[in-house]
Amino acid sequence: MIPDQWYAVMASSEVKPGRPVGVVRFGRRLVLWRDEKGDVACLDGTCCHRGADLAAGRVEGGHVHCPFHGLRYAADGRVVAIPANGLGAEVPENFRVRPWLAVDAFGFIWMFYGKPADAPDDLPMFQELRRGFPYAERLEVWDVHYSRAIENQLDVIHLPFVHSNTIGRGHKTVVNGPVTKWDADTLTFYVKNEPDRGQTPQTADEMEDWEQLNSLQYRVPNLWQNRISDDLRVFAAFAPIDDEHVKIYLRLYQRIVRVPVLRGLVCALGNVANGVILHQDRRVVLTQRPKKTELQMGENLLRGDRPVIEFRSRRDELKRAAEER
Ligand code: FES
Ligand SMILES: [Fe+2]
Repeated sequence: MIPDQWYAVMASSEVKPGRPVGVVRFGRRLVLWRDEKGDVACLDGTCCHRGADLAAGRVEGGHVHCPFHGLRYAADGRVVAIPANGLGAEVPENFRVRPWLAVDAFGFIWMFYGKPADAPDDLPMFQELRRGFPYAERLEVWDVHYSRAIENQLDVIHLPFVHSNTIGRGHKTVVNGPVTKWDADTLTFYVKNEPDRGQTPQTADEMEDWEQLNSLQYRVPNLWQNRISDDLRVFAAFAPIDDEHVKIYLRLYQRIVRVPVLRGLVCALGNVANGVILHQDRRVVLTQRPKKTELQMGENLLRGDRPVIEFRSRRDELKRAAEER
């Protein structure tokens, strides 16, 4: 996990008003809830009294109440009342759990994986998907670290093998480039695969027409999109559960069809198709070992793996920079 980053960790719809919800993210048991205004709070979910799961409790007056002995927690992680001591009694300092900064935006719950005071204001959502771009969504959990799931989306070599009857039709096994470009924390890469006619693949430097090619993007730390056109995107957020699990939020964004009923239908149908493609990936990715990737891990990478290498390098660089702070 890269520290000190905003991560899309849940869909907004997964945190309902009036009751707490428990999830595991970053290997931690968390509790989330909404206050009266609808703002989201997020704490470590294990009660500091005797370890019960706060998510099994209830929400009242903007606080989450532990189901076991009723300790009441505020959004900053402090216990504000211990019923057994009398509601008016002072609460000792050590009655608290770790708070996490969380906000609801663009249909996601974003959590800052770091100290709340270090969080930048801006969220890493792709700029053009922030407003006015309808989408349909599907959610699924894969039994791999989020790095494997992201790398699958950066993998331009696998298309004719894994997706031979869908997006990888045409036996385009030879991989030119690919060209990769970083702009701040966004990696854009351009795909130009061709059938094998005995030609030597072009290096990224030899490719002249790359700006006209289909481009895909990875945004640090856990977002990806395929920019099919200005009005059509396949998007995914990869929420890290723990070292062996990731929850994928796959979205089809489209604004080609703007008539409301049809728009919903097109989004939904597109999303079904994306699900088929995702499951072709899942079949193979779940077999990869180890389940988590690192910059140096003894794999034999190819030139065509450039986007994967860029991802690993940037992740490693950011992790090391965070350790040194
Ligand atoms: S375990 Fe939570 S109040 Fe006792
Ligand atoms: Fe794929």
